Amino acid sequence: MPKTPESLQPDQEVNNKNEEIITPERVDLSEKGTPIIEKKDRILTGMRPTGSLHLGHYVGALENWIKLQGNYDCHFLIADYQAFGDYADNISKIRDSVIEVAMDWLSVGLDPHKTTFVIQSYVPEHAELAMLLSMIIPKWMIDRNPTLKAESATQKDVSLGFYNYPASQAADILLPKANLVPVGEDQLPHIELTREIARKFNRMYGHIFPIPTALVGRVPRLVGIDGKAKMSKSLGNCVYLSDSPEVIAKKVKKMFTDPTRLKATDPGHLEGNVVFTYLDAFHPDAAELESLKKKYTEGKIGDGEVKNILAELLNAFLEPIRERRAFYQAHPEAVREALLEGTEKAKKVAAATMLEVREAMEITGYEDIKNIKKIIEK
Ligand code: TRP
Repeated sequence: MPKTPESLQPDQEVNNKNEEIITPERVDLSEKGTPIIEKKDRILTGMRPTGSLHLGHYVGALENWIKLQGNYDCHFLIADYQAFGDYADNISKIRDSVIEVAMDWLSVGLDPHKTTFVIQSYVPEHAELAMLLSMIIPKWMIDRNPTLKAESATQKDVSLGFYNYPASQAADILLPKANLVPVGEDQLPHIELTREIARKFNRMYGHIFPIPTALVGRVPRLVGIDGKAKMSKSLGNCVYLSDSPEVIAKKVKKMFTDPTRLKATDPGHLEGNVVFTYLDAFHPDAAELESLKKKYTEGKIGDGEVKNILAELLNAFLEPIRERRAFYQAHPEAVREALLEGTEKAKKVAAATMLEVREAMEITGYEDIKNIKKIIEK
């Protein structure tokens, strides 16, 4: 596989800094005193391939993934089985999106030489373990899951498969025996359920699974350009990682600011101001940002000027992402290899865990003639 040029590698700033990102109060969902994970512990996280990734994905999750890769055994899952729950009538959309998500991941600097990219449906053990786990998940545990509630409210005919989403996600995490799951805030209920199921499985059949810990990104929820609580394709309010400089400029121009401000000399308000929400998320210089905020609230700078600053910052942030994207566009075989080699590696891990699970659950022994005799002679 061609290596990405050194100049296109993301900054290597981790090493001793992990302690900073994994602070116990952000990691620990319920149990007190969960230990900080060990080097080379395993990470599993993933995304549903349902479209291009946006800035919210970056600050909510991908940024952490980039920091963690190389220091841990990272498995990044493209959860196409799970996407069927939304798009069973449009499989080709999912198929395209698997590639698009891989491109977005490679473009932000996830490195397939250091990590494992996995196509979920190419490792059918994900489905096998999901099925087995679904037998020990009480239905009420699914009914109270807030993420599922919110998502099923928007669907007309909720399928059984969609209902099984939390079992599938628990299986995704437990199959590679992950210790840490860096995700967006909306995924926390699934991780909590995964922990409960892992504990229950271990109690019932023997200790197989580590109890995984969640890690949420620096900006848990980035609003859309219209100020709505969530970026979503259907609302048309996303800023994509693949947007061109021209599109970025246009979208920033459309961003909501302070509706009470009529001219540049009016004192501006920061609260609920989308442009400043984005500046908070992406401005690299805290002191400069503070002085910009001061000018704005004192009516010393116009909305247009602040927007220009933001557009420039976003374009500077996206530039290396665009360069890496261009590299992979010129090397489609590298995209293919990232997906297939990772998936091959994951298959081995999955097979080993399923062997343990089958033995623990005693779903074995049918080839043993002694056992057959013992039963029929009874
Ligand atoms: N549910 C996640 C999403 O919608 C994707 C996902 C599937 C996932 N399996 C996972 C995330 C396991 C973390 C761990 O993006």
